[in-house]
Amino acid sequence: MSRFGSEGEDIVGRWSEEKLDLLAQYLKAYSNIMNNQKTSNNPTGKPWLRAYYYIDAFAGSVKSKSKEDESRYIEGSPLRALQTEPKFDGYWFVDLSPRRVERVNQLREEFPDRVIETWQGNCNNVLCNEIITRIPSSSKQRAFVFLDPYGLQVNWETVRRLAEARTCDIFVNFSVMGVTRLLPKNQSPGTQVIEQLSKVMGSTDWINQIYRLPTENQLNFFSIQEPQLRRETIQPKWLAVLYLEQLKKLFSHVSKPVLMRNSTNSALYALCLASHNKTAVKITNDIFNRYEKLTV
Ligand SMILES: C[S@@+](CC[C@H](N)C(=O)[O-])C[C@H]1O[C@@H](n2cnc3c(N)ncnc32)[C@H](O)[C@@H]1O
Repeated sequence: MSRFGSEGEDIVGRWSEEKLDLLAQYLKAYSNIMNNQKTSNNPTGKPWLRAYYYIDAFAGSVKSKSKEDESRYIEGSPLRALQTEPKFDGYWFVDLSPRRVERVNQLREEFPDRVIETWQGNCNNVLCNEIITRIPSSSKQRAFVFLDPYGLQVNWETVRRLAEARTCDIFVNFSVMGVTRLLPKNQSPGTQVIEQLSKVMGSTDWINQIYRLPTENQLNFFSIQEPQLRRETIQPKWLAVLYLEQLKKLFSHVSKPVLMRNSTNSALYALCLASHNKTAVKITNDIFNRYEKLTV
């Protein structure tokens, strides 16, 4: 459950701060590489890139408060991106909350040399109808898209459209907890749940694996029972890999997932990068490997 402070800001756990640190590390590497593509300082020796953008589809409250110490502020994803050097050619922020969009708009004063645009609305509509059309594959532009929802708000159709544009890398914080919560414990999921999961994950074939009915052989008391994947034993890692497998159908390269866990060690989200570029994924895996070594 999300908690909010007196100004409507999020109150977040340690894992959320770690997610933002991983984002900042990747943005630095990404922006360095992309900036070189705009000059002759790249392996081809020729500038080929016109512009590159940071797109934050769930911009958030700009600053949140730490759950462990509510007097401590944590800089959110818009600030991490705006502070990145070299700067991006534009920063495009989306949020459903008018108050949060207003807060992002105020950042123009703090960052007068950054080109900031904002949209208030459902990011699925904004991305598909207004943003992706600005960066077609022929445009010599690229974008880094951060998808950081509270739950299951990113439609698979949006991910598909981002992949098809061929200009976007997506950094997704996939809510494994959101999926687990939807899966009933004692019965197969109803049509509504299946539709919801299909909308978010693109496929629900895997649901049959979890809830499959015993075959005739397995019903026979004397038969050797095959080990079954069951609802009670579903691991967050398994759901993360499932989502990654889906992403691999759309993007040529997908990083490993890193599981973001709360203070009681429950996995909440799986963070990963999907890209058409091999180097992007290698850099992400290096950053994730270093993080995992520190947190083990
Ligand atoms: C987890 S917070 C984002 C945190 C932010 N990325 C950060 O790290 O500082 C999720 C945000 O998504 C917004 N939101 C919820 N549903 C949305 C939707 N369908 N489209 C766009 N924004 C949405 C909420 O208002 C909230 O600000």
